[in-house]
Amino acid sequence: MTLNLVQAAYIVAAVLFVLSLAGLSKHESAKEGNAFGVTGMALALAATVWGVLDRSAHPLTTFLLIAVAMAVGGAIGLWRARVVEMTQMPELVAMLHSFVGLAAVLVGINSFLTEGDGADAVHSVEVFLGVFIGAVTFTGSIVAFLKLSARIKSSPLMLPARHWLNLAALVVSAGLLVWFVQSHSIIPLLVMTVIALAFGWHLVASIGGGDMPVVVSMLNSYSGWAAAAAGFMLGNDLLIVTGALVGSSGAILSYIMCTAMNRSFFSVIAGGFGQEVSVGDDKDYGEHRETIAADVAELLRDASTVVITPGYGMAVAQAQYPVAELTSQLRKKGVNVRFGIHPVAGRLPGHMNVLLAEAKVPYDIVLEMDEINGDLSDTDVVLVIGANDTVNPSAAEDPGSPIAGMPVLEVWKARNVVVFKRSMATGYAGVQNPLFFKENSQMLFGDAKERVEDIIKAL
Ligand code: TAP
Repeated sequence: MTLNLVQAAYIVAAVLFVLSLAGLSKHESAKEGNAFGVTGMALALAATVWGVLDRSAHPLTTFLLIAVAMAVGGAIGLWRARVVEMTQMPELVAMLHSFVGLAAVLVGINSFLTEGDGADAVHSVEVFLGVFIGAVTFTGSIVAFLKLSARIKSSPLMLPARHWLNLAALVVSAGLLVWFVQSHSIIPLLVMTVIALAFGWHLVASIGGGDMPVVVSMLNSYSGWAAAAAGFMLGNDLLIVTGALVGSSGAILSYIMCTAMNRSFFSVIAGGFGQEVSVGDDKDYGEHRETIAADVAELLRDASTVVITPGYGMAVAQAQYPVAELTSQLRKKGVNVRFGIHPVAGRLPGHMNVLLAEAKVPYDIVLEMDEINGDLSDTDVVLVIGANDTVNPSAAEDPGSPIAGMPVLEVWKARNVVVFKRSMATGYAGVQNPLFFKENSQMLFGDAKERVEDIIKAL
């Protein structure tokens, strides 16, 4: 009876998760999507705890153990969620992925230790694959966390024969799988765990800064497959369904990110792209021109079409609120203001969309890169607010550039471009930006929030 009710709750929760994903894929329905997800997760948790207590020989002890674990985990989660800055979200997400990986490793080893000698071959394969995916996710996510939080350099680790090392790790692990299934000894399981930990570390360490968006979504996908593997080992259908949903939506996101950066998925995961570039390369780009807020206000007053292309610097400066205010003032004056969002702007998929929605910028003037690029040559003023790599013309014009081939917002085609940043420093990929030296570009130096506020005052 209890089992049936738990299964029924799992089916309802699975449907709620699907509705949640569907809702989250559009701005307008994102809030409902979140509500579906929260409801599904609450139901799944309640059903799981109930099911476990029902089967337990010591329900009170089991309940207390679960309650203590949930209280400690919940308190840490609540604290982190409250204090985390928007700019630290990617590293937090990477850290959370590593926990999923570690959980899959622990569940796998526990499952092996408790099942005795009676395990069949199918279960052994489940344990082995679960531990493998979990270990790769665990160390891969830790490296991603260290890179995203700038605790280690984001340049790729280029070991000699790195592709052969990866291949060798896979082939040896396949051999260990055969040994494990036949012997049911813990030795091949432990040796594979060590290899998979090193493999995950190397896989992400060898991916360069410019390809980090793909890494984040790829690890998202891996964490889903690790959860699904844990679901197989625990015989928990909902965990399998949820893991598969996360795994496949992460894989789709990785594909979208690869298309956005014009990279093949395989070349990114094989690593070694986004090589370190000399920050102050010797090329002579000419002189840049500086401007001041009052002059930009003048330029905007005379404009009839304005496009704003925000980037990571807008998130750092928390400039979205004055940007929304400036947008609303210009629209009241009859200026056609729109936003152009690059798919990898910021440090998270959808980063800019979240910030602009938070500041209540209307969704219908926030356009994707492909939707706005064609209109840029007919635009009076483009305001580049804290963006750099995503508006770099060398991606389109210099085949030798590390970001060559990545589609970018072609802001240099507009009549006037104003770049808001604090210095002439490079962006995340470490590549110099010829946009800053173009004849129609002017630099407005300083913190993006302060400079936008200055413009509002001058208007
Ligand atoms: P970036 O190339 O990262 O450049 C941001 C610029 O903002 C910097 O050049 C910086 O210049 C400026 N800035 C920083 N703080 C500022 C402040 N307070 N006020 C004004 N400007 C400020 O930005 P982007 O164009 O958004 O490109 C994103 C990059 O991150 C891409 O290379 C992408 O591949 C990578 N990435 C993206 C993701 C995802 S999923 N979106 C994940 C990981 C990595 P100053 O220092 O001179 O001010």
